[in-house]
Amino acid sequence: STHDTVISGARVVTPAGAAQCDIGIRDGRIVTLGTDLSGNEMIDATGLIAMPGGIDSHVHIAQPSGPGIEMADDFASATRAAACGGNTLVMPFVLPDEDQSLREATVAYLARAEGQCLTDISCHLIVKSADPVTLGQDLPALIAQGLTSFKVFMTYEGMRLKDSEILQVMDVAKGQGALTLVHAENEDAIEYLRDKAERAGDTAPVFHARSRPVPVEREATHRATTLAEVAGVPLMVVHVSNGAALEEIRRAKDRGVKVYAETCPQYITLTADDLDRAGFEGAKCVCSPPPRDTHEQAAIWAGLEQGAFDVFSSDHCPFRFADEKGKDAPGARDSFRNIPNGIPGVETRLPILFSEGVSKGRISLEAFAALTATNHARIYGLTNKGALMVGKDADIVLWDPTLTKAITQGDLHHGSDYTPWEGFAVTGWPVRTLLRGQTVMENGAPVGAAIGRHIARDKVAA
Ligand code: URP
Ligand code: ZN
Ligand code: ZN
Ligand code: ZN
Repeated sequence: STHDTVISGARVVTPAGAAQCDIGIRDGRIVTLGTDLSGNEMIDATGLIAMPGGIDSHVHIAQPSGPGIEMADDFASATRAAACGGNTLVMPFVLPDEDQSLREATVAYLARAEGQCLTDISCHLIVKSADPVTLGQDLPALIAQGLTSFKVFMTYEGMRLKDSEILQVMDVAKGQGALTLVHAENEDAIEYLRDKAERAGDTAPVFHARSRPVPVEREATHRATTLAEVAGVPLMVVHVSNGAALEEIRRAKDRGVKVYAETCPQYITLTADDLDRAGFEGAKCVCSPPPRDTHEQAAIWAGLEQGAFDVFSSDHCPFRFADEKGKDAPGARDSFRNIPNGIPGVETRLPILFSEGVSKGRISLEAFAALTATNHARIYGLTNKGALMVGKDADIVLWDPTLTKAITQGDLHHGSDYTPWEGFAVTGWPVRTLLRGQTVMENGAPVGAAIGRHIARDKVAA
């Protein structure tokens, strides 16, 4: 037979549109899109939708998170959850420990991933120090190895860079062919509001949201896009949470700045009220930027519908809830300042967007594929990934568009002990995931060996 595997009968979503056809796979690649194909393994996908496997270009896995704090996922659990949620590649961040260079941290991080992953991975770097070794040696060497993107932070003490440092980092990106990602929130304004809230006794989880209001993100988004304009580089603004920040991105684009924008499930489904849940439950939804309100959700939806967003990622950053290494860290109940920032979401990203977007008729299947896979591959230089096209890796997810369920922790595979979306009803669920032609998830359960690899990426055009 000419194919190792054939998927037949599905509605296949390609960049040229969606059509009924068979997918022929050989040696891990898509080699034929046609009808009546034969293969050694035949997968009957009648009634299902075939999409490019999800690429989640914003996840945090086993990232150093401060003294005594531990992320809830290692590579095995994060990629198991990712595969079960319809993903075939995730992009975590390398963050050096106190005593490590960026290069040492990358070697150690990739060694931890080796042999553990059920999906492919491809790492971004975090630049938390603009010192000469990082800028002059480590970044050029790592970019040459295919780690062609890095995130800078405008917030978090110990991580944030000054504007002058961000410009220096952008210069390296420009010279070496990498993409700069930015977490845009004004740290000084946050510290002012946080300290004032604490002095007033406003220390519950909801004050995390109230001390990081929209203008804090809007200003930093304006500043970040301006810095990209000054440096003459493209920029990815990650986790855009509100209409005002999105408007700054539109204005920068109108000035000719190449700006990409990312948003996440929390900004279309959660609000600051979710941080105000009874007791300490609100800590389950503490992330930065915080979820806003229904007006901002509508502004994010308008952006998704109008194509203002390039990518939809999870910002999966899992901590356990009932755990003093997690959300219940020492002092967390005394002040929101001590609650680790971040929420688990790698397994629920795709079902939430499918249900809220495709099933509710807000976005097309093609837009879904672009937002969840194709654009991630194009922007980050994953040449063989992200589309159901002849020649690409056979990274495929089959969706049952009629499957309805309520999201619940008991069904999930991440290392966290909760989901912010407990009880959230969805229509549409991924039922089979193939990585380079091999099934890694079937009917909600992980399948097979940890065949995921680290994927080196192409340089990014300035
Ligand atoms: O709260 C969040 N998002 N934590 C993850 C780190 C980041 O800022 O993306
Ligand atoms: Zn961030
Ligand atoms: Zn409002
Ligand atoms: Zn993040």
